[in-house]
Amino acid sequence: MILKQLNEYGVSPTTGFVPETPSEPLPVYYNAWEEIVANLPRLLKEASLINALALLPALETDHLSSESDWQRAYVLLGFIIHGLVHGAKQNHIPTSLAEPFLRVCERLGVQPVLSYAGLCLYNWQDAKDKNTLSGMRTIASFTGTLDEEAFYLVPVLVERAAGHLPGQLLQAVASAQLDQWDKVAGHLDICSATLKQMVNALSELNLCRPDIFYHDVRPYIGGIDVALERHGEEESLHVKLVGGSAGQSSLFQFLDHVLGVKHESTLLQEMRAYMPRGHRQFLIDVKRLPSLLDLAVAGSASASHSILPKLEECRLELKKWRDKHISVVARYVMLPAQKAARRLEGGAMKVTGTAGSSPIQFLKQARDETVLLYDNSSHYALPVG
Ligand code: HEM
Repeated sequence: MILKQLNEYGVSPTTGFVPETPSEPLPVYYNAWEEIVANLPRLLKEASLINALALLPALETDHLSSESDWQRAYVLLGFIIHGLVHGAKQNHIPTSLAEPFLRVCERLGVQPVLSYAGLCLYNWQDAKDKNTLSGMRTIASFTGTLDEEAFYLVPVLVERAAGHLPGQLLQAVASAQLDQWDKVAGHLDICSATLKQMVNALSELNLCRPDIFYHDVRPYIGGIDVALERHGEEESLHVKLVGGSAGQSSLFQFLDHVLGVKHESTLLQEMRAYMPRGHRQFLIDVKRLPSLLDLAVAGSASASHSILPKLEECRLELKKWRDKHISVVARYVMLPAQKAARRLEGGAMKVTGTAGSSPIQFLKQARDETVLLYDNSSHYALPVG
């Protein structure tokens, strides 16, 4: 099967799933949305978001033109709605927000909730330097803290560091299908070097303090269970959806498939519904291609001999990324949760990830599966060393 051009899936050959250029403010017609979001941390702190929204005009989506406009509208409306639900504790979203939000989500093909794309992929602007944390700003924030900014921007750095991998690895698959194993080896060397950079990019999370993340930011990005009111409809639309999580990243699911990593849990599969339509379709189409592991095993003995160790190296680097991510989750979620449970005498500690997982168990399993030496379906072993 022939894949479409990357950009037809909303994937850039250079920046991958992150847009190539920083977001710009929407046309003046949407100033009311921009202003609410610019003031969101104050409105939430002063508990005056509901009052501010009482003056919000019902705006049409007709003045959104570029893809980037639609993405920004998703970020702005998503943050306002999550502020209303988790800050002002409302479970009815008025038509002035619900109508345009549903239209924007339909256009982008995302669920009507603030997902990873809205929190991270599309939530950056003012980029003096797109490769550093200090060179970018987020569009939206609930707290206005640098901690929250770092939490949204580090995934952008990780994804951007790997921006060329979709193109590189698809070329590797095409080269493997033509028995051009030298070329495959070159692409895999680039892949393992890139995975090392992705591990380094995770370190930038140090700018986000775990207690601020856990107590001040995390409550806003949780799932929603709300009624969205619509014009001319007697019944409002009830939605119950999980919150934003980088478990909704298309990049890692792409890497897993191409490197031949298989996961038992269905959570990652379920998270595809939360990705933008183009990215989801990209994964569906990529899944129809054989993995590099399948191709190397089916290739000549010399191909297997030269390529399997390189594949194993990539999978080891991906495992190292997952090791480090597990320690991040322990530091940012499990430890603050334990501390909070200790304060509430006898309080039980049940922690759930924003995408609904039992985090450490789920992440350790995904990590271990990354370096499984045997594939259950065909019983081949990756050579060690
Ligand atoms: C403080 C920072 C972070 C926290 C607290 C965190 C938390 C979590 C949790 C709890 C999960 C399990 C799914 C769920 O229920 O939500 C998860 C999954 C995941 N996260 Fe993070 N995460 C953080 C940073 C990052 C960063 C910077 C990335 C890079 C893009 C990332 C990528 C992923 C991926 C790809 C998964 C799916 C599991 C896998 O493929 O290994 N996370 N995260």
